[in-house]
Amino acid sequence: MKSAKGVWYEDVSGKRYLDGISGIFVANAGHGNSRIIQAMKEQLDQLAFNPPLQSTNLRALQLAELIASLTPGDLRTVKFFSGGSEATEGAMKLARQYHKQTGNHRKYKVISLYDGYHGATMGALGASGVTKRKTVFEPFGPGYIHVLPPTCYRCPYGLDYPDCDVLCATIVEQIVRKEDPSTVSALIVEPISNTGGIVTPPDSYFRILREICDKFGILLIFDEVITGFGRTGEMFAAQTFGTTPDIICMGKGMSSGYAPIGGIAFSDEIAGAFLGSEEEQIQFNHGHTFGGNPLSCAAAIANIGEIRDRDLPHKARESGARVIKRLEELDDLGVIGDIRGKGLMIGSEFVRDRKTKEQFEERLRFGVRVGKTALEKGLILRYDPNWIAFAPPLIIENDEIDTMMNTFSESLQQVLVIANSWKTRASNN
Ligand SMILES: Cc1ncc(COP(=O)(O)O)c(C=O)c1O
Repeated sequence: MKSAKGVWYEDVSGKRYLDGISGIFVANAGHGNSRIIQAMKEQLDQLAFNPPLQSTNLRALQLAELIASLTPGDLRTVKFFSGGSEATEGAMKLARQYHKQTGNHRKYKVISLYDGYHGATMGALGASGVTKRKTVFEPFGPGYIHVLPPTCYRCPYGLDYPDCDVLCATIVEQIVRKEDPSTVSALIVEPISNTGGIVTPPDSYFRILREICDKFGILLIFDEVITGFGRTGEMFAAQTFGTTPDIICMGKGMSSGYAPIGGIAFSDEIAGAFLGSEEEQIQFNHGHTFGGNPLSCAAAIANIGEIRDRDLPHKARESGARVIKRLEELDDLGVIGDIRGKGLMIGSEFVRDRKTKEQFEERLRFGVRVGKTALEKGLILRYDPNWIAFAPPLIIENDEIDTMMNTFSESLQQVLVIANSWKTRASNN
């Protein structure tokens, strides 16, 4: 890519692309934002790096205060990193040290979901549940326990919501008991999982997980690297789902991609376990060279200011509703099996037969073809063989949403012609 402005990229040949996925769930405030760019220029003139062992910097302190004013509950202690994987690693390490310093020396196991993704580093990948991204790197450290995800459309337990009594959540209690609660440190979940196909849990899911965590002294970690900063229609998905975790992990949309940054915000209860003199050796001795980098923090402050001042979470809700309406209008094509997501993080699952939920034959890679056809037509989406995702910058205007959905619809219909010709050929044989 050569340049970008608003929701549009331009490549080196001059071809334009509508950014239907915010780069990769990053550019929440859009591209070429003058307020963010100006803040970064001013910061560069002032301070680009401070000695992290001896000092911090004004921008890091301001950003910590800003984030603390936006997080739910008392999640008002903040630590910065360079990106999402560092944030999830940091959260899991924080949980382990917290338990040690509060007398629970045996708590180290981390429970997470199959099909979830928490980053590419060894600890984050250990907690991730995306089979094809992790098995070649095995083994990871001990203590990563995985649970089946809340994929209602294809319930892993073969049940229907709400008659299921949300077994995908309640089963976590059985797993904790079998593992021995005194060994379980944390439960890390994405409020909405991208890699699983925009997996959106039923309303009571997180309330049940919260209750289980409280019952057994387990820290609930929300990995909001994608869902944070307005994406799901509130500043954090914790607010969208009405559940306050103990730790929130952040990245991506935190700076809208203007500079690399990640972070965690955690509760007073956790922070309290780390307060003490240097001699007591109870500080969280976990840091990265670029954590709290002044330039990244300046970008994040201006970016979050844009998201808050322009009420982009609200705009995300309205725009998301428009995307869903346009997807519903494609009902006649008979291949959209499910539409899910919140705010401006919308997924659509493709099926060959809506009654049986049968998928297109694997070789066809239906969703990938749709995504690649859209790319040729100048639309960037997130695609997978069986689903596609829409998550444009939150600043997207209605006419741009219509352009995005028109291009998607044309691409889908084009690929359907191919799918039908494969079907005819197969039945002739
Ligand atoms: C939910 C989630 N957590 C963590 C990460 C890791 O973030 P990063 O790639 O910035 O290290 C990602 C990246 O895609 C993610 O989607």
